[in-house]
Amino acid sequence: MLQVVFRSQLTTLLSYLDIQRLCLAAARNNRKASITGFMVECGGVFLQSLEGQVCDVSETLDRIYRDSRHDHIEIVYSEQDVPRRRFGVWAMNVMFLDDDIFWTKVFGSGYSCDEMLSQPMEPAFAIGVLAMAYRHACSVVGMDPAATGNRLGRIPRIRHMIRR
Ligand SMILES: Cc1cc2nc3c(=O)[nH]c(=O)nc-3n(C[C@H](O)[C@H](O)[C@H](O)COP(=O)(O)O)c2cc1C
Repeated sequence: MLQVVFRSQLTTLLSYLDIQRLCLAAARNNRKASITGFMVECGGVFLQSLEGQVCDVSETLDRIYRDSRHDHIEIVYSEQDVPRRRFGVWAMNVMFLDDDIFWTKVFGSGYSCDEMLSQPMEPAFAIGVLAMAYRHACSVVGMDPAATGNRLGRIPRIRHMIRR
């Protein structure tokens, strides 16, 4: 299984609702392709993890690259032969991180949202933020972050898309 983490920047202003709709459409597509993942958004920057079979992830990435709603797409991290899904609960879900206080309160003082804006992005920062946001989202909605069970990648409910 392949895991890819990428960062990109919005080209046009999208509302929270627009991004939630984008995430729902992504989740529906991903579910069909047995892809799971998670993304965060902060200040118009996206950070997203995709996991699945190499050909499925590559095909999805090709489509994502062609999407004019974002640009400056940068693969921050990529790992082949990942033994198990690290973001297996949802086919895709989004968490909004546009709040400095939230960063310090939940992620600790080692993390600042300013780093979301820097390019190239540090892989350790990207993985750290995604993993902490994913665990937080799972705990808020009462899901086990490690449990995928027999069900592969749920479609998130809008209220499970965490906005702070
Ligand atoms: C930041 C960002 C992340 C996206 N992530 C996904 C994704 O995980 N899966 C997906 O199918 N489409 C994703 N998309 C949307 C695709 O770029 C593309 O619009 C969509 O796959 C087209 O699907 P459709 O033909 O069903 O409309 C993403 C778009 C953006 C801007």
